[in-house]
Amino acid sequence: MSERILSGVQPSGKLHLGNYFGAIRQHIRLQDAGDCFYFIADYHALTTLGAVQPDIALRAATLRDNVRGVALDYLALGLDPAKAAFFRQSDIPEVAELAWILATVTGMGLLERAHSFKDKTAQGIPSSVGLFTYPILMAADILIYRSNIVPVGEDQIQHLEMTRDMAGYFNNSFGREVFPMPRERLDAAAVVPGTDGRKMSKSYGNTIEIFAEGKPLQKTVMAVVTDSLPLEAPKDPTTCNVFALYRLLSSPEEQAAMADRYTGGNFGYGEAKKALLAKIDAFFAPFRDKRRELALRPDTVEDVLREGAKKAREEARITMAMVREAVGLLGSPVGWGKNRR
Ligand code: ADP
Ligand code: TRP
Repeated sequence: MSERILSGVQPSGKLHLGNYFGAIRQHIRLQDAGDCFYFIADYHALTTLGAVQPDIALRAATLRDNVRGVALDYLALGLDPAKAAFFRQSDIPEVAELAWILATVTGMGLLERAHSFKDKTAQGIPSSVGLFTYPILMAADILIYRSNIVPVGEDQIQHLEMTRDMAGYFNNSFGREVFPMPRERLDAAAVVPGTDGRKMSKSYGNTIEIFAEGKPLQKTVMAVVTDSLPLEAPKDPTTCNVFALYRLLSSPEEQAAMADRYTGGNFGYGEAKKALLAKIDAFFAPFRDKRRELALRPDTVEDVLREGAKKAREEARITMAMVREAVGLLGSPVGWGKNRR
């Protein structure tokens, strides 16, 4: 049987090149490698929604828009609903039930060690109980589909370790092997640099958005930080942010040619940035067209999510029947009627 591959993406803003080369590209490629489940983590997004949208009157609309935006992004970038189940996390409410059950077998100490909670509260996000138990909901996301492989970025490794811990606590607490142990799969491009050379991230404001185009895109690319060597000086491609980004979008031959131009001198960063801009435009243009076209068909997008949820929910229900049975909650398909004396 093919392995089950699952990942989630938070609908928390505009996707950028770091997201694409660090995560999304891998998600799309894996569609042909197994039985894929991809979802939009809208329950998780609630843990930061207040910080994302301070205006109460706009909060719900912001979440809805962001969910719709990520759905369009993924479909435009090549997610094929015929190959992967693509759905909204909140369309499978069983996941919240599993999170509760996992919470009852998980020690506080495990959550107290989570980096992401510390990082987020340090950024000023209010420390709600939901933010604290975020890893439990994520474990439920993974375990409810009995997932084997979870493609994620490095920052999610601890969450995967915690998921395995929780799977073990459950299995041990009830003497049943309900959950297989999921393993992470790291995406190839470890860290994509942002326009300032730090890791590209929404929270640093140094992103190049996948679906930016025209003047705004040009402005962002031209603002990529470089050193200030004069035009004539030979330059080192290996320490240059522009080159690091160019590499992601070009063939080995193109990279070698570009490196020669750097080291040869009389080649300015302005020209390198133009070459980078041309690459970004060429690479993402077809996806932008697709996104525009999909945006005109909101019903199609909604249908995709609904169909995906149907498939996901069937799996979730199978797992929850096993879970409920294992812990002694009645109401599973094999439960009430049969067990009543
Ligand atoms: P952000 O840092 O912009 O908030 P997220 O934390 O939402 O991005 O990341 C979503 C996915 O994209 C994760 O799997 C993460 O590992 C990946 N990712 C984000 N930024 C980068 C980057 N600069 N390089 C590689 N992968 C990244
Ligand atoms: N925590 C992940 C992120 O911030 C999103 C996520 C939620 C997820 N549930 C998941 C990823 C389950 C993989 C599997 O990127």
